[in-house]
Amino acid sequence: MILGIETSCDETAAALVGGDGTVLSSIVASQASLHARYGGVVPEVASRRHLELIGPVIREALETAGAGLDDVDRVAVTRGPGLVGALLVGLSAAKALAWARRLPLVPVDHLHGHVASLYLGDAQVEPPFVCLLASGGHTLLLDVGERGSFRRLGSTLDDAAGEAFDKGARLLGLGYPGGAEIDRLAREGDPEAYTFPVARVAGLDFSFSGLKTALLYAVRGLDADELERRRADLAASYQRAIVRALAGRLREAAARSRAGRIAVVGGVAANSELRGALPDAAFAPLALCTDNAAMIASAARYADPIPYPDYLALDAYASAA
Ligand code: KG4
Ligand code: ZN
Repeated sequence: MILGIETSCDETAAALVGGDGTVLSSIVASQASLHARYGGVVPEVASRRHLELIGPVIREALETAGAGLDDVDRVAVTRGPGLVGALLVGLSAAKALAWARRLPLVPVDHLHGHVASLYLGDAQVEPPFVCLLASGGHTLLLDVGERGSFRRLGSTLDDAAGEAFDKGARLLGLGYPGGAEIDRLAREGDPEAYTFPVARVAGLDFSFSGLKTALLYAVRGLDADELERRRADLAASYQRAIVRALAGRLREAAARSRAGRIAVVGGVAANSELRGALPDAAFAPLALCTDNAAMIASAARYADPIPYPDYLALDAYASAA
């Protein structure tokens, strides 16, 4: 049994996963409402909240799985990328637990964690496949040849897709995080009402900053009443542009690869239009798209454990390794 711990951003999460990828429990305490009034995650606020939540969340993960610390064989934890202060809370908790129980520790890269959300439960996806990882912090195309490793094919040159959703939501006066809000509102709007540009970038990279500026100009031209009336159309058209860019690039990457199959992971994989636009793709289960610890425990099945007690000096890292 693997105990997974994830605190890279504003979700405090712990999970227990069996050696075969069965999710025995997955507890996620979101801090979204805490950061909503600032319109984004405030790193120092996040670290302090992680500190308060980490103990109760780990306890709840154990209780839900009907397990005790004696049942845990290894502890997996996100080491990076993410907010260093936030990461250190999870990393310190993981070290303390592993050290106290003389267990091995598995440091996990958050991006590998997202990909490993496909290796959980009953419908596990087998490589090779081309994977779109789209979240609040990252937008990448990955060539996944085997579990536990991947090769980067492309990435965003500026904003991540989830960031584009969040910034767009803010311009539209919607709540934070904005992806799910735009997703909901877009269902009431006309996706062809506005034409927003999808940046044409060379190779298999993405760019979303121009899109955000286009929305800014569209919104600026409207008074409060007009914005109220056009909000759903704007949300639907904006979402359409992001989905087109993501789905289009994923298809291009798949056409160039020998893998053939395609998969989508990360918070934006929860988007209903994206799911509809790629009926042939494997998607991470909805509950495992946004940050969680089950995916971190899952990735630990394919990463090297550090034996007790060699991990005490292990540090977190902020940027992609
Ligand atoms: O994977 P994640 O929880 O955190 C990072 O690693 O960044 O992704 C969070 C991102 C946020 O930007 C959020 O707005 C977006 O995922 N998101 C969505 C949806 N649900 C979450 N974007 C579009 N449609 C959704 N339904
Ligand atoms: Zn993430």
